[in-house]
Amino acid sequence: MQSFDGQPTSAGSVAEAALPRHERVVERLLRLQRITAALAGARTLTEIASTIIDQGMPALDAEVGVVAILSADGASLRNLGFKGVPVDTEAAWAEYPVDSPVPVAEAARTGAPVIVPTREERNARYPVLARVHGVEHGGAVAAFPLVLESRTVGSLGFCFPASRAFDDDDYAFILSIAQQCALAVERVRWHEVAEQEIAHRRASEEALRARERELTALVAELRQTQEALREADRRKDDFLAMLAHELRNPLAPLLNAVELIKAAGPATPIVERARTIMDRQIGHMARLVDDLLDISRISRGKITLSLERVDLVELARATALDYRSLLDARGVRFELALPPAPVWLQADPTRLAQAIGNLLQNANKFTDDGGSVRLSIAPPHPARGAVSVEVADTGIGMEPAVLERIFEPFAQADQSVARSRGGLGLGLALVKGVVELHGGSVRAASAGLGRGAAITITLPLCAAAPRAADARRAADARRAAASASSRRILIIEDNVDAADSLRMLLERRGHAVSVAHSGDDGVAVARMAPPDVILCDIGLPGAMNGYGVARLLRAESAMRKTLLVALTGYAQDDDRKLARAAGFDAHLTKPVAQAMLERLLAELAPLPETA
Ligand SMILES: Nc1ncnc2c1ncn2[C@@H]1O[C@H](COP(=O)(O)OP(=O)(O)OP(=O)(O)O)[C@@H](O)[C@H]1O
Ligand SMILES: [Mg+2]
Repeated sequence: MQSFDGQPTSAGSVAEAALPRHERVVERLLRLQRITAALAGARTLTEIASTIIDQGMPALDAEVGVVAILSADGASLRNLGFKGVPVDTEAAWAEYPVDSPVPVAEAARTGAPVIVPTREERNARYPVLARVHGVEHGGAVAAFPLVLESRTVGSLGFCFPASRAFDDDDYAFILSIAQQCALAVERVRWHEVAEQEIAHRRASEEALRARERELTALVAELRQTQEALREADRRKDDFLAMLAHELRNPLAPLLNAVELIKAAGPATPIVERARTIMDRQIGHMARLVDDLLDISRISRGKITLSLERVDLVELARATALDYRSLLDARGVRFELALPPAPVWLQADPTRLAQAIGNLLQNANKFTDDGGSVRLSIAPPHPARGAVSVEVADTGIGMEPAVLERIFEPFAQADQSVARSRGGLGLGLALVKGVVELHGGSVRAASAGLGRGAAITITLPLCAAAPRAADARRAADARRAAASASSRRILIIEDNVDAADSLRMLLERRGHAVSVAHSGDDGVAVARMAPPDVILCDIGLPGAMNGYGVARLLRAESAMRKTLLVALTGYAQDDDRKLARAAGFDAHLTKPVAQAMLERLLAELAPLPETA
């Protein structure tokens, strides 16, 4: 018999195979088939190794079998299976350098089979094996590389109990299981890579889903925060409206009392000075309270404009007149630059005057003595469809950062407690609100601190010419004001101070006044002697409020000619509507301005004796 390494087999030193050749060949073919079938089902590298070892060892009559795999960097080998050695040897050789002096490592390193037919050769070439197996034990060794497309991925090896020759059948058999093993390793590895890939993809998908969930939660949280902010803002507006209303109530009797002192005739200089101070301070207070109310109404969308045709030039001139003395007194030069022809707008004159007035007030407040203020309207160009009103001053000016936020409520450049110029920071927010309600816009400019400021309101123009009716209405109102004379007036008001001071004022003007402090009393007094005018508070104690009084009295024929006027601290548009619906002819907001009341009384039908 000839061994595959070309050496003659010596019958004396090498053991003959136990089976006759053809039987051995058949047996090995069966083994190979079994290996192929088992490897096809192997899911892990360990399963592959044990299949190879379990089938290979009996087929070859080997006593030790090992399958090892190369690390990714090719520097070491790891045993996937190791059978036929003591457990401690198995553990000691779990992983070892690829240059270890053992046949399996050599085969992996060189990519070529290592065949050691005799014990002597083994002891000589591989002293490590001699130590592990015993110099007097075992014999031949065969190690084959696991090669895939000329790439070595590991090796397998068998040790035999005695020296033996390896013929072509042996060689072909070991080569064939080495090839099968290499293929199976590759398949399992690809499988592992694919599974890792799938697991990785699943993990990324899960991470994405988790991120999506996080984002959804974040959006929900943001929405909640936003809603909470909006709610807080609504509550702030409600609070401001309520605060302004509550502050307004005590102002009414105060204002009336001051009017009374004035009407009482000449007073001592001290009383006169005190009255002037009170008058002015109540005026300030009323303005602050009004601003607060207005701003809360604007932000709640509760202001509706009473639009009419307005000559902007005339309105600007009249507003300027109100501020001229203020500026003159401080030595601030006031310049008016108005176009000669009227500029017609569809606007609410009271609100527009309020806006221009706020700008003039600021110009006055922020310009030191000796400076100058200029109110100008450039002649509008019809094609542009808009007109601009500008209030420019030479005052303290503003830094760019301040310019950005001055139209926000409560925004002021000077936020120190020791602010020398006072105010709540509402003026410009009101200007913006009012101007935007008119479909216009407002902007501020300043060259910087100490270099003056200019605020410009731009408003849409109104195309058509003025109607004669507007002019006539104004004239009628003036005539009516002149014809006011004594009326029978009933005041229904639960606040005794407010009722008394108003009564005294009206009596001073020559009216016959009676007072009731509840709805029921009011109705009773009215029925006894129907008055010309009933001034009725809305918030009355007891079962009947002001609306109830109006509904009841309006239905009575004796009260047909009676002017029913609602008095409230609230000046909301809704309240006006409610008052109208209940039957009130007019609605006055407390504190009642004398002029307003007189105008209202003057507009009543002429008295019988003067008719
Ligand atoms: N003409 C101006 N020159 C310089 N700064 C101005 C001028 N007008 C407004 N500002 C700045 O803008 C801020 C806001 O003005 P705004 O009229 O809204 O409030 P205010 O005048 O401080 O208070 P309020 O008008 O409520 O009495 C002012 O505090 C001031 O810092
Ligand atoms: Mg202001």
